[in-house]
Amino acid sequence: MIFITRYTLFILLLILGLQSCVSYKAQYAEKKRESVKVPVEPYFTLYLIGDGGNSLISTSANVLEHLSAELSEESSESAIVWLGDNIYPVGLAPEGHEDREDGYNKLMAQLNSLEKFTGQVYFIPGNHDWYSHELAGILRQEEVVEKTLTSHSNKANSNFFKPDNGCGDPELITLKEGIDIVLMDSQWFLRDDKTKNVETCVCNTREDFLKKLNGEIQRSTSASLVVAMHHPPYTYGHHGGGFTLKDHIFPITQVVDNAYIPLPVVGTVFNWFRNIASDQDNKNPKYKRLKQNLINYLDERGSSLVVSGHEHNLQHIQIGMHNYIVSGAGSKNNPSKLGKGSQFCIGEKGYVKLVFSDPKNAVAEFIVPAKIDKEERVVYSAKLNF
Ligand SMILES: [Fe+2]
Repeated sequence: MIFITRYTLFILLLILGLQSCVSYKAQYAEKKRESVKVPVEPYFTLYLIGDGGNSLISTSANVLEHLSAELSEESSESAIVWLGDNIYPVGLAPEGHEDREDGYNKLMAQLNSLEKFTGQVYFIPGNHDWYSHELAGILRQEEVVEKTLTSHSNKANSNFFKPDNGCGDPELITLKEGIDIVLMDSQWFLRDDKTKNVETCVCNTREDFLKKLNGEIQRSTSASLVVAMHHPPYTYGHHGGGFTLKDHIFPITQVVDNAYIPLPVVGTVFNWFRNIASDQDNKNPKYKRLKQNLINYLDERGSSLVVSGHEHNLQHIQIGMHNYIVSGAGSKNNPSKLGKGSQFCIGEKGYVKLVFSDPKNAVAEFIVPAKIDKEERVVYSAKLNF
């Protein structure tokens, strides 16, 4: 009897686990759509790339090479947002520290790709930028980003790392008449550490943060509003409960490479539990609080686009009146699955380009540079109406 109960439990969990399995392949909600034509004379172009912080390692280089070539052709009527986790695995160490050179080089690889770009540049932090070195690491990263991009002396803006001074403060910026963006540090909201830079920040508590976030969203009177934050409100990769069969059977490989200790059932339970326990996963109460409040504020204002990194893949999700883009595959790639509202996902390295024909209409192109055939590099495109 005990054997049957255990066996039944095993089968149940295995079915549950397999149902939540993810893939690296391109997946479309409908049959693969015909690609949407981008406007010949764009009103504005916005590039979105996240999790570029592993950029010196092996094959990630072609993403930056391709991006850099595209950016060098752009007019100044454009912008790029780096969506956090700009240095892996931990933020920028002080000079003389054994991790300094590695972190510095990874950041410089991204900054160097912007040398010929004349549009606006914004970097926001992610969780890995805070790790180990905390506030000091963020401040060091801000300094290197500001100094390097100022030395290019060709950019359309002058404050490149947001929020300033290690604050979390959500901030509304007008990219061009009719197109607004709110930038914030979502890791500041999620972390419990009390080394928050309370003296120079507007927000000292999570309540302050939510109040300012709502204020900045309602202050936007432009036709289009983009909200940029490292942690995606919706995602269907690891951080949103999507796991591979390997993750279910060998769960320790998620933490330690090549730790192939088979733990079926335990692995499935572990994966379910981690999505709640870890404040980096979207079933966690703190994570859900940020997500739900954000959605309430956006519902009040009207249809908007939320762009994020964190999950190492590319996803397009439509829920209610809002669009959600995950673009966290700048230098790493992980699988995903289709979930509620999903239009598309792929577990390959790349980035997203948003081409506005006017302030209210844009085409989002999802670009995977590793595709050899130029025509195939845009793996998915969609019209976004604000
Ligand atoms: Fe992250």
